[in-house]
Parts: sequence; structure tokens; C-alpha cells
Amino acid sequence: MTSKKFPVLVTGGAGYIGSHAVLALQDAGWPVVVVDNLVTGFRSAVPYGAPFYETDVGDGETVRIILRAHNIGAIMHFAGSVVVPESVENPLKYYDNNTARSRVLIEAAVTEGVPHFVFSSTAAVYGEPEASRVSEESPTRPINPYGMSKLMTEAMLRDVTAAHDLNHCILRYFNVAGADPQGRAGQSTTGATHLIKVAVEAALGKRSHVAIFGDDFDTRDGTGVRDYIHVSDLVAAHVLALEALVEKPAVSMTLNCGYGRGYSVLEVLDAVDRVSGGQIERRQEPRRSGDPGELISENAHVLATLPWQPRHQNIDEIVSHALDWERRPALAPVS
Ligand code: UD1
Repeated sequence: MTSKKFPVLVTGGAGYIGSHAVLALQDAGWPVVVVDNLVTGFRSAVPYGAPFYETDVGDGETVRIILRAHNIGAIMHFAGSVVVPESVENPLKYYDNNTARSRVLIEAAVTEGVPHFVFSSTAAVYGEPEASRVSEESPTRPINPYGMSKLMTEAMLRDVTAAHDLNHCILRYFNVAGADPQGRAGQSTTGATHLIKVAVEAALGKRSHVAIFGDDFDTRDGTGVRDYIHVSDLVAAHVLALEALVEKPAVSMTLNCGYGRGYSVLEVLDAVDRVSGGQIERRQEPRRSGDPGELISENAHVLATLPWQPRHQNIDEIVSHALDWERRPALAPVS
């Protein structure tokens, strides 16, 4: 455990994963500063006690002022666009938000001498894997612009690390779901497309049904299989990654973040029915463009590299926390 606790800049700290990361950092004693452009995030989601700037990470000049003003010692970069089908429709938005603006942020880090960078990447960099479980050494062949936009930022980070005084941890997320077990944060995304969020909305009558995108994949029941990871376990890995970067400034890492097991769409919907005590209406629809059949993490590397102990692997628990958050009355927007 490191004792040196300097201010950490969290980009996208008003978003789903970013807001949980702010809480995890604060819980571990790190001072946090948040930058978010509030395009998809909510001012009310920024945890109490974190100075907040409504700024885009692509505004390098402002970001540099913030880095200097707060003596930032590390950046956790969550800001970006995350909807796979949208990336297929509008690739330039993804290459702008996830790649070009990340370049500006990384440049600001280098210019201001910020020595540590944790990057929110994705299992989408693997595309349609050859084996059912993918390791960090598996080929990276994204099948959608979302995955490619993140992979390009990974490449930038590696090159910048080789040339400048900065180390990084790239965390490749599998399917993030659930909410803070203490109810302090959750997924407030409007127009959500992610399965568990969509399903808990349907369970509470906020949607009429859940579409099942494809029943003809080469999987156990024909529906897509994913490695759903609880957001609190995911952000715990970020805090440990930061500590590892501080302890070993010469070392950079790329780590899968998943549990190494998968659930099909039907199994997830069964869990939601079980936990909610209801029965969601299911409608069969064609495959969504850019969706691989099965994506499960090989997580031996993260388990060996960080003292990470996942605590919320149970799918019913993930769903139950998502449902608890969904039941909360909507907060009035602060911004
Ligand atoms: C994708 C990325 C993932 C990324 C996430 C970020 C891939 C392979 N994965 O997750 O790395 O972190 O976006 O946004 O690109 N489904 C339905 N009905 C729905 C919604 C989803 O059947 O209403 C199915 C999908 O077809 C898929 C599974 O549920 O099989 C999960 O989909 P979703 O929650 O949207 O996440 P991914 O697209 O897997």
C-alpha cells in the first residue's frame, strides 16, 4: 500500500463508472478532482467533496490549468462515448470523443508532468475472439469503431509512455453493471442500451419489454454471452492499479477486468425476473450490428498483478444492486 496520496483527476466523473471511481478513490483516502462535459453525465452524480469542472477533456488549455491548479499526480480517464451500435452509425464521433480528445488529454499530462495515467479501455478491442475466453495476449481486432477508438488510445499511451516520463495502466472492461452497494451511486444514463440497465428498467415498468438481439449465436442458448462485472469490483481494481503505478514508476500494465465467467442474455433476464419477482416481456429481434457472440475474460493476469479480490460476482447481486438504484426517485438535476 502506498502512503503518498496526491490529488487524482477523474475525467468523466459525472458518469456511471467515473462516479463510482471517485467514491472508491475517496474511500481509499485520495483527494479527487472531477472533469466532465455533462453531455451524458450528471452534475448530481459527482460525489460530495470532489471539486468539479464542467470541461471537455479535448480543451487542453483548460485541462492544463486544472492539472496545475490542483497539483494533480495521476489521471483516471473515463470520459468518452460507450454505445457500440452508435459507434457503427457515427464512427467519427467515437474517433473524436475517444481518440482525438484522449490525445489532447495525454498531451496535457505530458506537458504538465503528470506521472501516472489509468485508462478506461474495453473488451471490445478483442472483437470476435477465436477462443471463448480472451487474455491480454489475444489478438486485438475490434469489429466496431467503439473498440477501435479505444485501441487507438491504448496505442498512443504505450508510445507516449516509451517516450516520456509517465507510466500507465490500461484496464479492459468486460460488461460493467450494478451499482454502489451503499446506494451512493448508480447508472443514471438516459436512453441506456446496456442489457442489465435496460432489463431492470423493464422490470420496474419504465420500458414495455426487453429485446433479445439474436438467438442464433454459437452459444449455449443462442443468445449473446458476456462477462458481467460489478462496477464496485471494477473501480476497486482502478484504485489498486493507481497504487501499483505509484509504487513502480517504471512499470506499465494492460489488464482485463472481468470475472472469467459468462452469462447469456436469457440467463441475465432470468436473474432479473428472479430478483424482481416479476416477469419481463421478452421480444426476439435480429442481431445488433457489431455484436460478437461470446466475450469472456481470462483474468489470471489482473489477479496475479494486483491484490484484487472481486466481491460481487454473483449475478443476482449485480442485478439486485442495479434494481435498488433504479428504484430510487429521480434526483433533481443540480446543473
Ligand atoms: C459493449 C462492449 C463492451 C463495452 C460496452 C460499453 C463489445 C463486445 N462490448 O458491450 O466492451 O464495455 O459496450 O458500452 O463491443 N442485448 C440484448 N438486448 C438489449 C441489450 C443488449 O439482447 O436490449 C444483448 C447484446 O446483444 C449482448 C448483451 O446483451 O449480447 C450485452 O449487450 P450490452 O449490454 O449492450 O453490452 P455489449 O455490447 O456487450
